[in-house]
Amino acid sequence: MNIRAVILAAGQGTRMHSKTPKVLHPLLGRPMLQYAIDAVQREGAEKPVIVVGHAAQEIRRVFADQALFALQDEQLGTGHAVQQAEPLLRDQAELVLVTYGDMPLLTSGAIDRILVAHQAHEGPVTMLTMIGDDPRGFGRVLRDDRGYVKAIVEEAQASPEQLAVRELNPGVYCFNAGWLWQALKRIPLSPKGEYYLTDVIGVAVADGLPVQALLLDDPVEGIGINTRVHLAEAEAALRKRINRQWMLSGVSIIDPLRTVIEPGAQIGQDTVIWPDSYILGSTVVGSDCVLGPNTWISNSQVGDNCRIINSVVEKAIVEDHVDIGPYAHLRSGAHLSSRVHMGNFGEVKNSFLGPGVKMGHFSYIGDAQIGQDVNIGAGTVTCNFDGEKKNHTEIEAGVFIGSDTMLVAPVKIGAGARTGAGAVVTRDVPPDTLAVGVPARAIRKLKKHD
Ligand code: UD1
Ligand code: CA
Repeated sequence: MNIRAVILAAGQGTRMHSKTPKVLHPLLGRPMLQYAIDAVQREGAEKPVIVVGHAAQEIRRVFADQALFALQDEQLGTGHAVQQAEPLLRDQAELVLVTYGDMPLLTSGAIDRILVAHQAHEGPVTMLTMIGDDPRGFGRVLRDDRGYVKAIVEEAQASPEQLAVRELNPGVYCFNAGWLWQALKRIPLSPKGEYYLTDVIGVAVADGLPVQALLLDDPVEGIGINTRVHLAEAEAALRKRINRQWMLSGVSIIDPLRTVIEPGAQIGQDTVIWPDSYILGSTVVGSDCVLGPNTWISNSQVGDNCRIINSVVEKAIVEDHVDIGPYAHLRSGAHLSSRVHMGNFGEVKNSFLGPGVKMGHFSYIGDAQIGQDVNIGAGTVTCNFDGEKKNHTEIEAGVFIGSDTMLVAPVKIGAGARTGAGAVVTRDVPPDTLAVGVPARAIRKLKKHD
């Protein structure tokens, strides 16, 4: 059966009061519309058609690789919007699945259910419904004696009895394509001057055709976003869903309401996450780690048995048994090898720290290569920027950098060398040599390091 999906996303989302089109507002780091695409997209299937209108260019740009687009010049209603997809889909699809771009919690499981139910049924329409206590703005679903849907009434047009109905329309439908294209031509203009997709139900009923409704198990899936209040509610629900999955797969989350894990992140077993922590983007965290409290990790790799407290880690690589924080900042290109200890108020950017490196306090390491077991004293700074360009620092294995050393790059410290406290190193220090002073000068040869 050839199934094609249509996602409606042409409306401005006036009630968001935003310069950003509603469907591009992010939830857990992804635009709202991305969730709608992911829910309908099947492995190997044709791309969905997104109906765009308001901010069409912007939306097309973001999803160019993932969808086809139909333009709805004027937003004349959801029924009119679906009609705009007809030229792309006529004779291309046997079934048309329609969803709205503003319901990010809908799962692909619910889509599977509606497709299966539709194919087992003779009627031209199957729709999802949900029972909800908070009917804000949802169309009410009216059923006949046999349990078929007889109408969907929009809130603005509903009578007091109809308003009391708690079966709501989330906005997910499956149609026989041939039937849909002709039925859309027959929907009346609503009192608001729009063509409502929901009125195709009336068209089916008028022709004596059964409209099947399938109840969503979890009404959270049907949360539609019209305002920023709904956006926050939906994000909270999404967060809860993701956190729950991680807990069920072996991650301890001390306070799930205060933990943000984005959908692209991965976390290993027996890792413990303390409150107010954010695991973002494509971050991969290994097993047996302790993260947080107050830790922000984005687009980074963290190995096993690491401890990261009160710190920010961005686009960095952290190997196993690394200990970071409190108050450390790893920036883009930081790579901490196994057993590195990075204590309070340190910053590392675009630098490789070899196994066992210790930088306990108040240091900045930028554009540097640091060998195994180097000890970096408190307050050490790689002076990597000369006002024009970034310069490289190299510190070989076993070096001891004294407290408050300024390493004026480009500079190289040879294996086994030491710098004295407060040294300003402007020239390379040979291996196994002690350098002190301002600017530091080599004063004597050290005993050979083993
Ligand atoms: C719609 C449904 C309502 C349902 C609710 C669920 C209709 C008439 N009503 O109401 O029964 O309970 O969604 O959230 O369908 N859109 C277009 N072009 C248009 C109008 C809308 O593409 O001309 C898109 C919007 O961008 C949005 C979606 O369709 O993604 C829904 O539009 P919205 O205005 O939010 O509809 P509701 O009033 O919420
Ligand atoms: Ca809506």
